[in-house]
Amino acid sequence: MENLTIRRPDDWHVHLREGTVLKDACRDLSRYIGRAVVMPNLSKPVTNLTLAKEYYNDIKAAMELFPRQFTPLMTLYLTDKTSSQEIIEAARSEIICGIKLYPSGATTNSQSGVVDISALFPIFEVMQREKLNLMIHGEVTDSEIDPFDKEKLFIDRHLAAITKEFPDLKITLEHITTKDAVQFILDAGDNIASTITPHHLIYNRSDLFRGGIRPHLYCLPILKRSTHQTALIEAAISGNPKFFLGSDSAPHDIHSKESACGCAGIYSAHASLEFYTHVFDQMNALDKLEGFASEFGARFYGLQKNSDSVTLIREEWEIAEKLPLGADWLIPMMSKEIVEWKVINK
Ligand code: DOR
Ligand code: ZN
Repeated sequence: MENLTIRRPDDWHVHLREGTVLKDACRDLSRYIGRAVVMPNLSKPVTNLTLAKEYYNDIKAAMELFPRQFTPLMTLYLTDKTSSQEIIEAARSEIICGIKLYPSGATTNSQSGVVDISALFPIFEVMQREKLNLMIHGEVTDSEIDPFDKEKLFIDRHLAAITKEFPDLKITLEHITTKDAVQFILDAGDNIASTITPHHLIYNRSDLFRGGIRPHLYCLPILKRSTHQTALIEAAISGNPKFFLGSDSAPHDIHSKESACGCAGIYSAHASLEFYTHVFDQMNALDKLEGFASEFGARFYGLQKNSDSVTLIREEWEIAEKLPLGADWLIPMMSKEIVEWKVINK
């Protein structure tokens, strides 16, 4: 197949940052993404509806520069202090898509995240009642735990208890990285789904150390061994609607990545659909791409599917070495490498 036309995709997990880099973070997504779920982990986290409205307006203003725009779906950052009232207001807001749980210390700008998950059960009760989605960064944070085990332990220690106590709470386990997470999602009810990133499909932990340490492949949850990568690929191409597109595209400037203590995040918004298409193509599963990229997420969040489409052609092109990010630059995923699919009508 040389041409592939699919319903316009959405990205159910992105980072856009704030201030001078915001417009650059919106640039690539605005090319062809329909809707994007925007993560709230700014340096001043988006902890309430007022901040979410401000951020929403900033994103809309930043996108005026571009010929087309995506629709931002906003999230609130859960803290130990989030009140029931804030949850109720969020549930009734048109712009809010869900509440994001970062265990405190799990990742970038998560210092204000949740320390005591069980103390938030009354909040989960309200969310279940109000039918408000909980999006989870699923890793434990104890420093003595091996980083490669943190996702599985989160599932065993926390997620299993949350889903048992709140059987109707809608939960997205974000950016899953292990076969354990895949199995958990498969065994759970229809109210539990997950996003899968292009980098966790294309890379495994050997790539992180290929020829030296590769800071631009450092992300959280960290890349796992190839058996887990295989399980993720199988889940993505399975046609099971519990698995859908969430790129976790996370812009960081070159200096923050290439540093003695580099930060986590892989930028993929410049070509995420092309990357996913490559994976599905390799697996002879191009017929399953549309569901994963353009239908299952909308269905899970109770939204209409996009009504227009995008077309990809099989054509080799080279990914830019670097892309502007505010006054600095970022190194995009697959920098200077060749991709064999290209979105043409944007
Ligand atoms: O690699 C990551 N980067 N994982 C996250 O959970 C956060 C993200 C970021 O904000 O940079
Ligand atoms: Zn993320």
